[in-house]
Amino acid sequence: MDAKGTAVVTGASRGIGRAVAIELARRGFDVIATMRDPDAGAALAEESSGATGSLRVERLDVTDPSTINLPDGLRVLVNNAGVEDDNLPIEVMPIEIWRRLFETNVFGLVAVTQQAIPKLRANGGGVICNITSSSILAPVPFLAAYRASKAAVMALGESLVAEVAPFGIRVVEIMPGPIATDMLATSERPSAAIEHEQYRAMAEHMWESRKGIRDLHTPTADAARDIADAILDDDGPLRYGCDPLSNGLLDAWRAAESDEMFLRSMLQGFTT
Ligand SMILES: NC(=O)c1ccc[n+]([C@@H]2O[C@H](COP(=O)([O-])OP(=O)(O)OC[C@H]3O[C@@H](n4cnc5c(N)ncnc54)[C@H](OP(=O)(O)O)[C@@H]3O)[C@@H](O)[C@H]2O)c1
Repeated sequence: MDAKGTAVVTGASRGIGRAVAIELARRGFDVIATMRDPDAGAALAEESSGATGSLRVERLDVTDPSTINLPDGLRVLVNNAGVEDDNLPIEVMPIEIWRRLFETNVFGLVAVTQQAIPKLRANGGGVICNITSSSILAPVPFLAAYRASKAAVMALGESLVAEVAPFGIRVVEIMPGPIATDMLATSERPSAAIEHEQYRAMAEHMWESRKGIRDLHTPTADAARDIADAILDDDGPLRYGCDPLSNGLLDAWRAAESDEMFLRSMLQGFTT
């Protein structure tokens, strides 16, 4: 597709969403950077100055249907808004946290997507880009609730491909690895699982491994360039990484002899 028309990004107040909004405006799209608190986007116009396209800020909370008002000229939707929480063993992860993660990461994304489909269809097609996580590919302990919410989006994205391809709508799934954002910074600590005797050794091992990938933290602007490339890659695949770690993991997953072999090799890295 040509980088023309309107692109909407959810969760564009900071992090990956903010960088993607700026990058899409640079490529030529008229970007609506949506966020819960539009004050957080006050500097965005200046940050995107010199862009071929334009950028404006609108309020959108994916969990509040009254704020979801997508424009008629929609060509690209980037479902980026997402939340994480404490990483805990499934055994003790409060059900409220599961619900909170699914409310934003899954049900919020579905609500926005439902409104986008008829608008994209009316415009002859476009792109729906879902930001999931490369963690889906690895059986990471204590990350089950977050991974499950992202895996739900992965699964619904596959059905979406089947449903909307006839309308000329392409679905793209971005599976980021560690991108230098607030979300990553907040999770740079030992898992709360460390408080639970039965899981302490594993949590300590995870924390040591985690420190080992700090060199792979990728700036948001680099990830955003890869995400924009994927959106514009008309004949490309469904799934993309946007940083060295996620690209490597995706390649290894695709090259694996079987899903069982891949899972087993991953599990070895998580056991003490
Ligand atoms: N960073 C990583 O390493 C990484 C890795 C894999 C996947 N991801 C995924 O990438 C996406 C962006 O993450 P990030 O790292 O940029 O996170 P971030 O820095 O924490 O930013 C999250 C964004 O989502 C917004 N958001 C949260 N709840 C929302 C809601 N109900 N409605 C609208 N916006 C909402 C936040 O808005 P407020 O400012 O209002 O809170 C913020 O703009 C997420 O889907 C995340 O799961 C990130």
